[in-house]
Amino acid sequence: MLHLILADSELERMPPEIAVDKAIRWSARRRGRKPTELILDSSFHYRAMRRLPGKERRGRPDIVHLCLLLALDSPLNLEGLLRTYVHTREDRVITVDPSTNLPRAYRRFEGLMEQLFMTGEVPPERPLLRLEESSLAKLIKRIGPRKTIALSEKGERKGLDELFEGVSVRDEVCTIVGGFPHGEFISDVEELADEIVSIYEKPLTAPAVLIRVISSYERRFGVV
Ligand SMILES: C[S@@+](CC[C@H](N)C(=O)[O-])C[C@H]1O[C@@H](n2cnc3c(N)ncnc32)[C@H](O)[C@@H]1O
Repeated sequence: MLHLILADSELERMPPEIAVDKAIRWSARRRGRKPTELILDSSFHYRAMRRLPGKERRGRPDIVHLCLLLALDSPLNLEGLLRTYVHTREDRVITVDPSTNLPRAYRRFEGLMEQLFMTGEVPPERPLLRLEESSLAKLIKRIGPRKTIALSEKGERKGLDELFEGVSVRDEVCTIVGGFPHGEFISDVEELADEIVSIYEKPLTAPAVLIRVISSYERRFGVV
């Protein structure tokens, strides 16, 4: 089984220090929410974000959206061999049920995330996404993998066909991909991973890496 963790993802609620901004209060009123119930999104809140530490990487729920769609639509997931988790910069973890039918439209996904951060699970009638407080270390401990592989442009260079060498389909294997646009992992990934692997000599986006990791596992075990 492959456990895929999108780590240190830039998915968070509106930080209180910028929730008082006039444009943000206006946007909250339009959505029928309190300002602090909105999901921070750099493409809409960039002006207010000027005051925010780490502003160049924060507010990227679109990365999480795209990565989840790719993971959930993969043959590996359809075959029941993939488990997907989103770990956020504030040490929260979303556990994603493999049968989740995520909204394709980004605005609807954002609405779902607002609801998830308010209630802790969605949809209410049959929860498929669950949010809890957890560090990356605690999540990996809960999964209890035989091997943990972190993906990083600074890791040891490996071919995609070598990524899962020495692993059996019965083993629980964790892979960690950063859910952020720039910079380094915030969590101590060097401490948590058995291997840090680079799959290409240049930096790639999280969705480009995630889809290659899934497809490498699918090929290794003959899923496709
Ligand atoms: C957009 S990158 C993060 C920022 C990256 N340091 C950069 O400057 O582009 C998102 C994630 O994709 C993965 N990644 C990006 N390039 C990679 C590469 N060449 N090999 C392996 N993983 C990579 C890492 O997990 C990284 O955290």
